[in-house]
Amino acid sequence: MQPIKKIKGFQDITWQDAIKYNFLEEKARNVFSRYGFSEMRIPVLEKTELFSRTIGDDTDIVQKEMFTFPDKKGRSLTMRPEATAGVARAYIENKIYSQERISKFYTIGPMFRYERPQKGRMRQFHQVNAELFGTESPQADAEIINMMWTYFTEIGIQGLNLEINSLGCPECRPNYKNRLQEAIAGINTDNLCPDCKNRSHTNPMRLFDCKNPECKQYLQNFPLPMDFLCRNCQNHFDKVLNLLSITGINYSINKMLVRGLDYYQKTTFELTSDKVGAQSAIAGGGRYDGLIQQLGGPETPAIGFACGLERIMLLLQEIERPILDFYLVLLDEKGTENGHRLAQRLREQGFTGNVSYHTGSAKSQLREANKQNARKCILLGEEELQNNTVQVKDMTDGNQKQVSEEQLCDILQN
Ligand code: HAM
Repeated sequence: MQPIKKIKGFQDITWQDAIKYNFLEEKARNVFSRYGFSEMRIPVLEKTELFSRTIGDDTDIVQKEMFTFPDKKGRSLTMRPEATAGVARAYIENKIYSQERISKFYTIGPMFRYERPQKGRMRQFHQVNAELFGTESPQADAEIINMMWTYFTEIGIQGLNLEINSLGCPECRPNYKNRLQEAIAGINTDNLCPDCKNRSHTNPMRLFDCKNPECKQYLQNFPLPMDFLCRNCQNHFDKVLNLLSITGINYSINKMLVRGLDYYQKTTFELTSDKVGAQSAIAGGGRYDGLIQQLGGPETPAIGFACGLERIMLLLQEIERPILDFYLVLLDEKGTENGHRLAQRLREQGFTGNVSYHTGSAKSQLREANKQNARKCILLGEEELQNNTVQVKDMTDGNQKQVSEEQLCDILQN
């Protein structure tokens, strides 16, 4: 019979990588809680409409990349391609806006996008994600970017580039869109790829997502949102940049950074690295002041970001296998019961350790202990059983001595 294989673009996470996921997730909890964020857990499956209404019908994510299927009653469901839509829905559905003026949430978990898998691009990937609701203050923009920056500093990743842009708001966007449409009218749209040709009518700003070199050439001469900001948006952007500078964060302005989701207004940002190949965006986010209202909630400004854990892992240093405090070597079958009783007592006292499941050659058991990164080996043979002692061997210097069970705890502690 053919063995069953996993689905393309999905991965099994074994201990070597699980350690890294745990490290990244624990650090996120630690850093984000210092900025007043608390955890929210949302479903991985939502009504498809939630994503088409938030991320936007003309985006690549909604048009090409969603895992969408009907449930048994024919209702269209989608595996979440990102967390912002779900958190926004939960914020409204649970009327969180009526309980507090400012809300800060983080979510951690898997996302699903039907993209062509390659280095740093999976069909199931993981994000840590932060969302802040209830203020349009530029302080929130700067603070959330600071939090993202602190996260990367504390996980030990340096040399990232912070790119930032402003996309304007409903006041300045129509003027910009008109100018963009005028520019598009001045070119022969038959030269654009079919997607861009379509989008040039339905949602021209999405042209900036296109990777096609010919389309990109046209984009070079198109007007950019940053050059059409209203006074309010310009002020907002200036204040964000000023606060970033004051807090020591280096950034570069990228006027072409529109991001691949429709809900953004004003500030957008991305963290990129030139060390991870074509998928250079490690994290990204921005303001989405209109989204909560658009989903049927009260007018609520908001901002957030998400980091892709698989891309971070491409930059992360190897993390060592965890150390075992002890490995119990059984030199004699008769020692099995005593060995397990002893191991149980040690584990109850907080020590980590494994028991060898086979008696036999001490040499092969000691080799196994070494592989498992044990600091100390406890050897239990007939002699030790008779006089209620154990041999303890230090795996770094090879020293071995006979001690009582009581002395053993002190030795493991040190
Ligand atoms: P995004 O830019 O679509 O934004 O995704 C954020 C990060 O997720 C990317 O920078 C990348 O590191 C990672 N990522 C995206 N797709 C894949 C993939 N197929 N494989 C591996 N990693 C991937 C969002 O998702 C927004 N919800 C961010 C946000 C939060 N904006 C406001 N609040």
